[in-house]
Amino acid sequence: MFVFDKGFDFDAKLNIRFRPGAVKEIGKELKKMGFKKALVVTDPGVLKAGLHNGLIKSLVDENIEYETFSDVEPNPRDISVEKAAKLAKELQIDVVIGIGGGSSLDTAKGVGFLLTNPGRIKDYNGKDKVKNEPIPIIAIPTTAGTGSEVTANAAITDAEDHVKMSVRSPKIIPSLAVLDPELLATLPQKVAAYSSMDALIHAIESYLSRGANAFSDFFNLKAIELISKYIRPFCAEPSNIEAAGNMLIGSMLAGLGISNTGTGNAHALGRALGGEYDMAHGLACSVVFPHVMKFNAVSQPDKYVDIAKAMGLITDGLTKKQIAEKVVEEIFALMDDLKIEKNLNTLNVKKESFERMAQVAISNVKPNPRKTTLEDLVQLFNDAY
Ligand SMILES: [Fe+2]
Repeated sequence: MFVFDKGFDFDAKLNIRFRPGAVKEIGKELKKMGFKKALVVTDPGVLKAGLHNGLIKSLVDENIEYETFSDVEPNPRDISVEKAAKLAKELQIDVVIGIGGGSSLDTAKGVGFLLTNPGRIKDYNGKDKVKNEPIPIIAIPTTAGTGSEVTANAAITDAEDHVKMSVRSPKIIPSLAVLDPELLATLPQKVAAYSSMDALIHAIESYLSRGANAFSDFFNLKAIELISKYIRPFCAEPSNIEAAGNMLIGSMLAGLGISNTGTGNAHALGRALGGEYDMAHGLACSVVFPHVMKFNAVSQPDKYVDIAKAMGLITDGLTKKQIAEKVVEEIFALMDDLKIEKNLNTLNVKKESFERMAQVAISNVKPNPRKTTLEDLVQLFNDAY
């Protein structure tokens, strides 16, 4: 059911290139668009695995000048994004290409808008603060996780107080998303597991969100279906092109969802954990996710039935309450199969930090379907402990 009296907005830029080897065609595409100088933004892992080689060759083949910034950090800090933007300004680039996980894509977004907007990243923390159109941003994900290639959001950490900021504006949606399943083939097991789980959490939290609407529901249900079907075979063997391709499509669809609905408590808590402990985003959200799902079950029983169906669970003869319990069970089982840590105490998280992190998380609970208090958040941390 949608809240028709409030209506909804849905922003997207859908320029997608999806195929094995798509990354090798980018040079030609950029040439057609008239670009002359690019900054390639990536992280040391991508560089080491040589995932950028096809992209670089395609730029060289088309005589597009380029420079590489490869110092992207996991949970990128504002000061390092600003460093990349400074380099981009000196080089006078006309296009920025992010290749990597969400951190690389979000850093590229930061570079894109800082080139045309004055000041620092923190001046743009929040919704619709970016005034001028960024330079074109090309996004090439190497994980099936954040969906950042189609989102209007960049998550960047404030280096001073370790809080994750969120720059949100349709202006920073990448101009082109290049989805190449071959780039996922060498993903380390842990990265594949954490990022894939993040994509599933996006689809489910967006589907349950108070901001959910006809468009986001359409994308999210398909995302839940694709991700549920392919997450295990993909994590078992990321070079399985069919699984990787479907995971990329699933994570992109979920990205379209969250970009327009916001996320729920798993992300509110996960972001606080990520800021305090510099934990991988997918892990931080996963570890609290089944508990959040248990907490939210009373708020949207019908939607839990839809989720169970999209996940391919057999629900014949079960009550809505039992179906919701089955969804939670399946999430725990999936985390077991993917070898994702299920307890905060095994991740060296200290109970003393729960209250402080809850204070941070409380500002992000608005889209969550069940009304959430500070005490609820502390309890959810305790549940995950
Ligand atoms: Fe996420």
